[in-house]
Amino acid sequence: MTTRRTPLILGALAAAFAFAGAPAWAQPAKLKVGLMLPYTGTFAALGTAIENGFRLYVAEQGGKLGGREIEWFKVDDESDPSKATDNANKLIKRDNVDVLVGSVHSGVAMAMARVARDSGTMLIVPNAGADAVTGPMCAQHIFRSSFSNWQPGYAMGEVMAKKGHKKVVTITWKYAAGDESVKGFREAFEKQGGQVVKDLSLPFPGVEFQALLTEIASLKPDAVYTFFAGGGAVKFVKDYAAAGLKASIPLYGAGFLTDGTLQAQGAAADGLLTTLHYGDSLDKPRDKDFRLAYVKAYKLQPDVYAVQGYDAAQMLGIGLAAVKGDIGKKAEFAAALEKARIDSPRGAFSLGKTHNPVQDIYLRQVVGQENKVIGVASKALADPGRGCRM
Ligand code: PHB
Repeated sequence: MTTRRTPLILGALAAAFAFAGAPAWAQPAKLKVGLMLPYTGTFAALGTAIENGFRLYVAEQGGKLGGREIEWFKVDDESDPSKATDNANKLIKRDNVDVLVGSVHSGVAMAMARVARDSGTMLIVPNAGADAVTGPMCAQHIFRSSFSNWQPGYAMGEVMAKKGHKKVVTITWKYAAGDESVKGFREAFEKQGGQVVKDLSLPFPGVEFQALLTEIASLKPDAVYTFFAGGGAVKFVKDYAAAGLKASIPLYGAGFLTDGTLQAQGAAADGLLTTLHYGDSLDKPRDKDFRLAYVKAYKLQPDVYAVQGYDAAQMLGIGLAAVKGDIGKKAEFAAALEKARIDSPRGAFSLGKTHNPVQDIYLRQVVGQENKVIGVASKALADPGRGCRM
């Protein structure tokens, strides 16, 4: 028999079911994951690789993390910092996501970190290296599965100094990631007695490199250090070779220069040395399994971005398992991640107290279509986390 009160009772039951900590017989509500990534522009391929990696890990867990199925929400952030606050708020206020995952661009990620801090929303950064995210903006509920801009730059500063280079020119996009990558490089390079004779830059995501390449030719440094990524990196590496500089002034970079880009760069990238927390030919069983699964799922070779997306999902899974799906338990979620060893395809890593990976930075050389790992440039390198108070 139905009464007029039936809808009310059903409503109450639905509310009970929706609560993540509902009785064992209830299906917990889906976990709302908000992916805020670039799907257009110079970083479009990077956003897709991150999402692919993230979804691969979730699929390997039978579609659930911490016992909860996932409901997906997506925003194309266009790598545009001026739209980032609105985009993040759409996911938080309109879609009510439980966790934000993003982004690639450091300026966008800093805006996301601000929104995450103001709203208390969990944030996992699956690429953007903005030092501030695990520095002055650090928080109990903000995590990074990737790197800080300082890390690959610092490792390369040591490598280039050891190679005997004394006078170096840097060239990058004028924004947080480029500036901080160069700063990390400079810190290590100068400590070893090297000198940066000139910092060159152009606005993000510009690719009009000709005048700057002419300047490099006339400055005649021992070598060049660079940060570019995605579509811009493809064009830079090709232009550098086409300008005839490759043979006379060796080009080095943070590994984004040649990751996910080699097919498009072709012979122009041959032999380049870069530093990064991932590489091809790592020869670790965990990486081999990951690469096979990724190729099978997407018919594409994975790159560092795919790994970072995969590990962002792993980190979310570790935190959620510790709180049995109740993502509101932030202190317990953070405690679980702070003591975890994350079984990454890059090699297992832990999170420092600022929630940035403490990880090996590999030295890689482009051989054919591979970033071949030829050594470890810096073992278990931790970002200094300057300005983080937690
Ligand atoms: C960044 O903006 O932090 C950034 C973008 C692309 C990369 C690496 C870092 O490949």
